[in-house]
Amino acid sequence: MKDLSLHILDIVQNSVVAQATIISIGIVVDKKNDYLGITIADNGNGMSPALLQRVMDPFTTTRTTRKVGLGLPLLKQNAERTGGSMDIKSVEGRGTDLMVVLKPSHIDCLPMGDMAGVVAMLICSYPNINFKFSHRVGANEFAISTPELKEALDGLPLNSPSVYPLIKELVSSNLDELQIGELG
Ligand SMILES: Nc1ncnc2c1ncn2[C@@H]1O[C@H](COP(=O)(O)OP(=O)(O)OP(=O)(O)O)[C@@H](O)[C@H]1O
Ligand SMILES: [Mg+2]
Repeated sequence: MKDLSLHILDIVQNSVVAQATIISIGIVVDKKNDYLGITIADNGNGMSPALLQRVMDPFTTTRTTRKVGLGLPLLKQNAERTGGSMDIKSVEGRGTDLMVVLKPSHIDCLPMGDMAGVVAMLICSYPNINFKFSHRVGANEFAISTPELKEALDGLPLNSPSVYPLIKELVSSNLDELQIGELG
């Protein structure tokens, strides 16, 4: 994965497969403390304690016949490489919470990438899932959610072709302002 937005897209696919109807993505940047936190929470099927243990193991020690994917181990590795960490909590039938911490000053920290594109793509591709996205940089925060957008669009479906570029631009300009606000 070449940037963090693609990792987030990949991890959210797990929540979609787990039949989540609510998926929250939170990003917190605290430059003073060299902190970048990413949380992804869903109300999907969750994982049994045994599976949870298995997905948290480094993929080199996975010794099962079942195909265990690389999405979670790769993100964990990319977080730990910066001096950060990854933690998952999951309850079967209730959902899953993923928390990733990275140190942005580390030379191996992946760039954020096109977060606005990823958020817009998710919201437009899965109109029946309630996405909540928030991004905080220092004291400034931008948040957006599927229900708010549905209301603003006043009946125009989220998956109609004109909507994706609109949402992407809305998120993108707000994220740019967050960065500017932080510098000022
Ligand atoms: N949010 C989630 N809810 C329920 N189960 C999950 C969730 N995230 C991961 N899992 C379980 O953990 C497994 C491993 O996830 P991981 O993303 O590492 O690989 P994958 O999704 O199987 O394959 P890949 O991501 O490489 O395409 C999944 O197959 C799924 O069983
Ligand atoms: Mg996956």
